[in-house]
Amino acid sequence: MPSDRKSVLITGCSSGIGRGLVDEFMQRGWHVFATIRNLEQRQDLVAELLGKYPDRLTILDLEVTDKIQRDAVVKVVKETGRLDCLVNNAGFGLLGVLENLSEEQIRYQMEVNFYAPAFLTRDLLPLLRQTKGKVVFVSSVCGYVGFPLMSAYCASKYGLEGLAESLYYEIEPHGVDVSLIEVGLTKSNFGDNVIWGTGEIAAYRLQTDNYHQEKAKLSLKAKNNISLIGKRVAEIAEGRIKKLRIRVGEEAQLTHLFQRLLPATIWVNLLKRFHRQKLLKK
Ligand SMILES: NC(=O)c1ccc[n+]([C@@H]2O[C@H](COP(=O)([O-])OP(=O)(O)OC[C@H]3O[C@@H](n4cnc5c(N)ncnc54)[C@H](OP(=O)(O)O)[C@@H]3O)[C@@H](O)[C@H]2O)c1
Repeated sequence: MPSDRKSVLITGCSSGIGRGLVDEFMQRGWHVFATIRNLEQRQDLVAELLGKYPDRLTILDLEVTDKIQRDAVVKVVKETGRLDCLVNNAGFGLLGVLENLSEEQIRYQMEVNFYAPAFLTRDLLPLLRQTKGKVVFVSSVCGYVGFPLMSAYCASKYGLEGLAESLYYEIEPHGVDVSLIEVGLTKSNFGDNVIWGTGEIAAYRLQTDNYHQEKAKLSLKAKNNISLIGKRVAEIAEGRIKKLRIRVGEEAQLTHLFQRLLPATIWVNLLKRFHRQKLLKK
């Protein structure tokens, strides 16, 4: 168990960015607490990970919205007496026009992407204050730009951005650094794990159908950014990058640059024209 060794807790390690983060931190000699939900049904994955990393890896069952499981994870980490970095990575995308999203779906999106990281961070901060550790939130371009048919997902990432920015000032005097990794389109299971709104309002059929096509094209353009994201997060954890916001990937950098350089009305009108062309074409 970690006491003389630095340790990191990463949520959502079954695939994609979280899985990449496990490799990165293991290679750097950290003790890794990797959380994965529904562990009982994923014994192959557990065996693969423990086969690759027989030491220094602790795999914990965590559906992030489950308070009992969150408390159990916090207890395990507290018992080791040490945590140097928390990476709030687990997340998913709820897609569809707002009118097609049920109340339950919108709440679940916020539970997973916003409330769970808020509660987990709050509960692990006492340990992180002791080590003067780091908190990392995996955010997105959707944390600073709104996109049609992504209102709930964007709301969850904008929420994280506000939480992280406030926490940054609050906790910096206690020696804990907070960072947002703002990720562009990245190859992972994200597209397959998307949940669609259950409604089927006819007025939005054209936008929804076109969005499905655009999404398929976009997923082909997704970049292999996982190892770069891993490096950046590890550099934050090791104190070599000390920034509130780090954008990874060309798309994230360029979008931010245009948003910052263009006057707001021009930026909004450009996006409006872009989305109309894509989503209203017959
Ligand atoms: N890929 C992109 O283009 C992109 C862009 C911007 C931001 N991001 C963000 O990056 C993060 C990681 O996503 P990814 O791209 O690596 O996608 P991914 O391959 O789908 O991985 C998402 C991870 O989160 C876990 N997860 C989802 N809901 C959960 C829940 N309720 N409880 C516990 N674990 C849960 C998934 O577990 P299961 O396997 O059990 O579903 C999986 O381990 C997310 O926060 C996402 O919003 C991704």
